[in-house]
Amino acid sequence: MAEKLLDVGGLSKAAAWAAVREQVQAVLEGLDDEVAAMATVASIVHHAFGYLWTGFYRVVEQDRLLRVGPYQGTLGCMEIQFGRGVCGTAAKERRTLVVKDVHAFPGHITCDGRSRSEIVAPVFDEKGALKAVFDIDSDRVAAFDDEDRHGIEALLTLLR
Ligand code: SME
Repeated sequence: MAEKLLDVGGLSKAAAWAAVREQVQAVLEGLDDEVAAMATVASIVHHAFGYLWTGFYRVVEQDRLLRVGPYQGTLGCMEIQFGRGVCGTAAKERRTLVVKDVHAFPGHITCDGRSRSEIVAPVFDEKGALKAVFDIDSDRVAAFDDEDRHGIEALLTLLR
């Protein structure tokens, strides 16, 4: 099992996300446990890229409420309503949101004042129902783009 801390420095984004996906898959091999899977994804992504906050908000009331799940970083807010902030909007619209400047996003929820940009992607189960969103916050403006979106969406298929 590839358990060493993954270093993606010097890789293209596409190669970095592919390496992350490969390591997550190796670590989770033979394991069917959603909490373990979310915790593994959060840890590997967070430390590979050095983000500010990396983790999951789970759907606890369908179409209404998200609650924090496994994450890495400083204390996240506990609950987010659908339609609120970047996470709640991504959940409501069931699509990935890339926010280049959080200060320009109406209703952005500030958990850490250092956050400057973020990406939030939906996590679907095998039937296509939304079960969580995956949120990554960076202290750099415009840290995320379409390449990250592709890499993250491919990574999250491991959680189906
Ligand atoms: N930035 C998120 C809130 C969650 S935390 O920052 C961990 C949002 O606006 O959805």
